[in-house]
Amino acid sequence: MVFRDKGSKIIIKTDEQIEGIRKSSILAGNTLNIVAPYIKPGVTTDFLNKICTEYIRDNHAKPATLGYHGYPKETCISVNDVICHGIPGAYELRDGDILNVDVTTILNGYFGDTSKMYTVGNITEHAQKLIDVTKECLRLGIQQCYPGSRVGNIGYEINKYATSFGYSVVYEFCGHGVGIRFHEEPEISHVDEKGKGAEFKPGMTFTIEPMINAGKARCKIDRKDGWTARTIDGKLSAQFEHTILVTDTIPDVLSDVDGEYPKP
Ligand code: MF3
Ligand code: CO
Ligand code: CO
Repeated sequence: MVFRDKGSKIIIKTDEQIEGIRKSSILAGNTLNIVAPYIKPGVTTDFLNKICTEYIRDNHAKPATLGYHGYPKETCISVNDVICHGIPGAYELRDGDILNVDVTTILNGYFGDTSKMYTVGNITEHAQKLIDVTKECLRLGIQQCYPGSRVGNIGYEINKYATSFGYSVVYEFCGHGVGIRFHEEPEISHVDEKGKGAEFKPGMTFTIEPMINAGKARCKIDRKDGWTARTIDGKLSAQFEHTILVTDTIPDVLSDVDGEYPKP
């Protein structure tokens, strides 16, 4: 999301690589479903991290974030005003919290990256609306991914939709090529211009991971841990992420283990 290999080229994956990335993405998606039933008031984010980590390791994979540029944990868990890179810890979930769990797996050397939102107990209507709009932002972004279309169309559609509800789109963190490495070219901005940027070609794999803020777009990084990105105004933020494969026809959402997207 932050540390792209600048200057490197977009990797068009071989069929063999695609199958590896597919398996890893499915494992990452399944991990999100494994942890879901544990999310309730009183549970620490560290405990949720432990559940994810055990499942990933039981499946002969590794969590990609641990040690990545010094990141200290196996997942990112971002609660309420945390935009992304929340570090699992002693925080106990409370009624009304919203959170994103972000899992990146390395299976047989291949990376899969996905995240989704969860709710704790009863949340406000306003929080639910932010989550629903963010999920739709990801869907609209994914819809732009077909040969001949361009990367800029993703951010154009996402920004148009999110701002129509008075929300703002985080521009300091982006989606990214993924599969052979954690963060590859291209960078996928969630605020962009129609028709701009790289053209999609079959065999490209990348993430789309819009972060949508209820208030201002800006973020601030926690000075103590150097990772946790919070909204500048303390308002809520939501995020969903999938790993996508461009095909000859419609995009193949590799991490969609819930059957929410049609298969090409
Ligand atoms: N999984 C995050 C992403 O979607 C990246 C986390 S990088 C870390 O790109 F270093 F914070 F772990
Ligand atoms: Co990502
Ligand atoms: Co991620």
